[in-house]
Amino acid sequence: MALPDSFIQELIARNDVESVISAYVPLRRRGRNLVGLCPFHGEKTASFTVYPETASFYCFGCHVGGDVITFIKQIESLEYMDAVRFLADRSGMKMPENSRENEQTSRMRVRILEINREAARLFHQVLYQPEGKIALDYYHSRGYTDSTIRRFGLGYAPDSWDFLIKALRQKGYYPEELKEAFLAAKGRNGGYYDVYRNRVIIPIIDVRGAVVGFGGRVLDDAKPKYINTENTLVYNKRRNLFALNFAKNTGKELNICEGYMDAIAMHQAGFTNTVAALGTAFPEEQVQLIARYADRVNLIFDADLAGREATQRAIANLRKTGLDVRVVSIPDGKDPDEYIKRNGPEAFRRLLEGSANAVEYRLLEIGKNYDIRSSNGKILYFKEAAKVLAELDSPVERDVYAGRLSELLGISKEAILQEVEGNRRGKQRAAAKQQLQTLVRQESKELRQVNADAAAHPRAANAEESLLGTLILHPDYFKQIKPILSPEQMVTAFNRELYTRLLERYQQGLMLELSFLSVDYDEAQMAYITRMVRDAKERVLTPEDAVTFATIIRDEHALKGLADPANATDEELLKMMETLRARKKK
Ligand code: UTP
Ligand code: MN
Repeated sequence: MALPDSFIQELIARNDVESVISAYVPLRRRGRNLVGLCPFHGEKTASFTVYPETASFYCFGCHVGGDVITFIKQIESLEYMDAVRFLADRSGMKMPENSRENEQTSRMRVRILEINREAARLFHQVLYQPEGKIALDYYHSRGYTDSTIRRFGLGYAPDSWDFLIKALRQKGYYPEELKEAFLAAKGRNGGYYDVYRNRVIIPIIDVRGAVVGFGGRVLDDAKPKYINTENTLVYNKRRNLFALNFAKNTGKELNICEGYMDAIAMHQAGFTNTVAALGTAFPEEQVQLIARYADRVNLIFDADLAGREATQRAIANLRKTGLDVRVVSIPDGKDPDEYIKRNGPEAFRRLLEGSANAVEYRLLEIGKNYDIRSSNGKILYFKEAAKVLAELDSPVERDVYAGRLSELLGISKEAILQEVEGNRRGKQRAAAKQQLQTLVRQESKELRQVNADAAAHPRAANAEESLLGTLILHPDYFKQIKPILSPEQMVTAFNRELYTRLLERYQQGLMLELSFLSVDYDEAQMAYITRMVRDAKERVLTPEDAVTFATIIRDEHALKGLADPANATDEELLKMMETLRARKKK
């Protein structure tokens, strides 16, 4: 599995970080480095930095970082080996022969895709046979036309333990393989059985047109209502949106609803720029996916309370990327599917067109808590609403909404704006104070993610990070460090492991650059390591500095177990804040 160093060396020589990244991100030079807008989170000022000298990148905004392979892993959503292959292809290199395990993986991936396609076809065909009539009737009773059924490849998994297993076995696919596709499961007696039984089947198709997974709904009120494909080699629900294969080319506006059935109903009603979220949490990957295809989104969620909370979370996540987020609340009926059925597509179109943007939605929501006919309710609403307006950075927008509030409440626009500005000043002061705290928290949260001990031993962790960063840049410093610092003396577990690994490579005369590490560490870990290297690089450290760090680590190691961590942290906290403040300025 491991690739030879010589191969990685040539790979990173041929794929220099600057040219690889600039294919995705417009970069401009700043001193020895390059900066651009981070492709991993929405931002308006460039905090994404590329360091040609250490062949790495780091984003000060979202704390992703690593070497060129890590970059490709993240931007192309690839596993390590596939990222290497990607770069090899890009630079005309042949992959070494020995990566057998991963060849197996890619063969399995192909098999799963074939199995999914065959399964989708079988499930669909069954609809038009006697045993599938019950499902066809179900679709019709919900108002889905035959052309919709065909277009989405809807189907039915008959009420049988081995319908699919048997049918696919005849086509040369084994139950073991079906299990990898989440279509079969293994019972306690060791036999395999179909996962989807007596359910209507909705294939999930990715943007390339491949069937990557399935949703299966019961035909009645049984539980669980849906079974969905869980992670397989070809499917991850965090990275997919249902119906995006149809919606992706419809323009820069997307409707996002909650359910499969809603999305299908909306397509049938002519709203072909609609996707379903496959669960409402909107993880980062989905947000990125949406941002790739849309500038503006209309969120269409259930009108009940759960729907509202989900909506708030979704708005927050989507807004971070700079998307124009509007919210469509459906007055009667529970979801778009039902609303369209009851009131027709035209009524729904009017809803969409009148869709409130996020501010209006929030004002509406707040309004539901107060009776603005009473003067008390009016004042409370006014105070709450002013807080919402205070969050708007554009004076024009503040003015517009102040005008609307003024009409609604019968309070002068000037009074409203005054209240808003008061809120903003208070906010700015509080924000300034909080900024540092937030930075400390963000950064340390990031640290804790990959190195859980760092929070409890900040002084040791600081010294370790500085030392490790220095050693990666200057392996020759090991001459002084090796005799005075043994791996066991490293205080935090992650750093101890990294130190051990570096020391081993050093002793074998191997290179320590980041790209030789990325095979063993995931993205978050690479970001952590890259930050060590970045900081060490900025400080231009000598062997004497390295010895100082090693001494601190030894002291801390000796103290560990004795010290009460609650005591010694004040000074360290101050120091950390200074470091952070200095970073922030750059
Ligand atoms: P809903 O319960 O609103 O279902 O869940 P629906 O899609 O509107 O289905 P109908 O109209 O009752 O037939 C919304 C979405 O949440 C996910 C599915 O993606 C569903 O489409 N979900 C729901 C599950 O994954 N599992 C469940 O058990 C329920
Ligand atoms: Mn529904």
